[in-house]
Amino acid sequence: MRETFYVTTPIYYPSDRLHIGHAYTTTIADALARYHRLAGRDVFFLTGSDEHGQKIQRRAAEKGMPPQKYVDEIVASFQELWRRLNISYDDFIRTTEPRHERVVQHIFRRIQEKGDIYKSEYEGWYCTPCETFWLERQLVDGKCPDCGRPVELLREESYFFRLSRYQERLRRHIEEHPEFIQPASRRNEMLKFLDQGLEDLCISRTTFDWGIPVPTDPRHVVYVWFDALSNYLTGVGYLQDEEKFRRYWPADLHLVGKEIVRFHTIIWPIMLMALDLPLPKTVFGHGWLIIEGDKMSKSKGNVVDPHLLIDEFGADAIRYFLLREISFGQDGNFSRSALIQRLNSDLANDLGNLIHRTAAMLERYFQGQVPEPGQAEDLDLELPRLAGQVVEEYRRCMETYELNEAWAAVWRLIGRANKYIDEAAPWALARQGQQDRLARVMYNLAETIRLVAILVYPAMPGTAQRIWGQLGLAGTVEEAGLAACQWGRLPAGLRMRREPPLFPRIEEEGEGVEAGRAGAGRSTAREGTAPGQTPAQAASAGVPAASASAPQPLPEITLEDFAKLELRVAKVLAAERVAGADKLLKLQIDLGGERRQIVAGIALHYRPEELVGRLIVVVANLKPARLKGELSQGMLLAASTEDGTALGLVVPERPLPPGSRVK
Ligand code: MSP
Repeated sequence: MRETFYVTTPIYYPSDRLHIGHAYTTTIADALARYHRLAGRDVFFLTGSDEHGQKIQRRAAEKGMPPQKYVDEIVASFQELWRRLNISYDDFIRTTEPRHERVVQHIFRRIQEKGDIYKSEYEGWYCTPCETFWLERQLVDGKCPDCGRPVELLREESYFFRLSRYQERLRRHIEEHPEFIQPASRRNEMLKFLDQGLEDLCISRTTFDWGIPVPTDPRHVVYVWFDALSNYLTGVGYLQDEEKFRRYWPADLHLVGKEIVRFHTIIWPIMLMALDLPLPKTVFGHGWLIIEGDKMSKSKGNVVDPHLLIDEFGADAIRYFLLREISFGQDGNFSRSALIQRLNSDLANDLGNLIHRTAAMLERYFQGQVPEPGQAEDLDLELPRLAGQVVEEYRRCMETYELNEAWAAVWRLIGRANKYIDEAAPWALARQGQQDRLARVMYNLAETIRLVAILVYPAMPGTAQRIWGQLGLAGTVEEAGLAACQWGRLPAGLRMRREPPLFPRIEEEGEGVEAGRAGAGRSTAREGTAPGQTPAQAASAGVPAASASAPQPLPEITLEDFAKLELRVAKVLAAERVAGADKLLKLQIDLGGERRQIVAGIALHYRPEELVGRLIVVVANLKPARLKGELSQGMLLAASTEDGTALGLVVPERPLPPGSRVK
């Protein structure tokens, strides 16, 4: 039988639409599910919605809707978000489904029969937003210690669950299984929490009715957390599909935010102990996404809507950012400028350039076909060696939940491959007629891209598959799996297509521009791409490598000669292709109060929509000319490699008003 991997997310409250924080957890779970599928495991990935309780009942009342109708609408929006984010869950559990109600009632009855549930009276505090009971002494300034919001005094008849009876058994389990609560800091917090002693837990309510009735006493509804945690059993067929349940239980990973680790590592394991079921292997409490140092909340008005981000940047870009930018386990800041920086440096620049340059050179030197690898020199052995190490490190990091490190390793390989282009200088090999070595270099590059497609698949499934297709490979990345990461499996003779950039560079007005450029610059330094690049060059579709464009010396000129050139900054207002000329773009530009049209031969390197809004540099006093019948009143500046496979615009490094003189 294949090894299994069962991963869950929290089931989210339909008290509001989901924000980027929820998308964060679900994206991580999805990346892990996809990784384990790649590794050949039989994966079950469960998410869902936590639909009962006082909070939801009140929200529905505020909206003037029956609770079921209210949750139906919101839950549909959850599923729509997961569809758009490409979340590959195997089941979506709703706690209002009959299959779940049956399981919860059964669990309640079974624990009651065991003598671990008794009836008494609860008198104490309750935080409705957190759906949590608090003792007087636990409050902070009379407020909820978790969320800081006001609490309500309750006094009602309730059923209680004897947590206290299991306290020592739980402590032993936590101590003997260091992998049970991760990261270690949360494990220590939970051990400290246990030191204070466990109170029995109130697990029913009578003052509202939006919940699952207690089977033996239907005036009570089951406490929403007791109900919600049980979803992890319902979702894998507990009491319904014994074969499925035996296959996947216990869960390998409950992925949750740090604020609900306590429910998952104290209440949940004790419920399972009372049911004589094995405990999940790991509960991982990740950190929060923070917005400019602040917790996201509706009242602060800083809630980030994932739909808008997907509209603007695409699902894969957002997924990659969430997985790469935030140190897994710790809190991390989310900001638009950090997002743009990351996308420009890692995706547009590092990954985009590697693919674009390789495809362009394969086309130029081998009619697009991956050649049989020829003789290797020492330099050519380095990339395969590094690739082997990176695949190993990537596996280890994914298995031990050091996710950022896994992506960092992949980007080390991408960075090395970009540098390899500069060092191996295929254009020079072509010029010198070293066809054999050239074939080796190009094969190495295409093979690295194939491995990268597999490795980035958990983070960017759509992109990975596109790269796979661009290489001419058949089938899906998922079918190929991690086993296909062995170096040398790329068959010669495949045709790699040249395609528009996967991730066009994002330019923003004002601060965004600077932030974006700083990002590209940082990446250049970090990944060791060709020295001497301006960030914009580095980020454009083809990186002119320093060694690639070694200029032929021209006769000396004087300063007066240079002063004859009127070089000015211009802003691109509109751009379109020129009919019948596949290399030309027609640009409308603002030269500082003056509008002009110029025609530029950059259509193979830039798409028109990428250019609009950008600042460029033009020779403003060039004699006007007509190209393909279109008037060109000036010329833009761009740098390119000697062989023309890579080209980048020359741009001011900071935003400047159009018309600014370049000298
Ligand atoms: N319904 C309960 C969970 C029951 S699980 C048996 C619940 N729901 S929730 O809608 O409030 O979702 C909380 C979870 O959403 C967090 O644990 C975390 O996974 C995710 N996040 C919500 N806001 C977040 C951030 N700002 N940052 C990161 N994750 C966030 O609690």
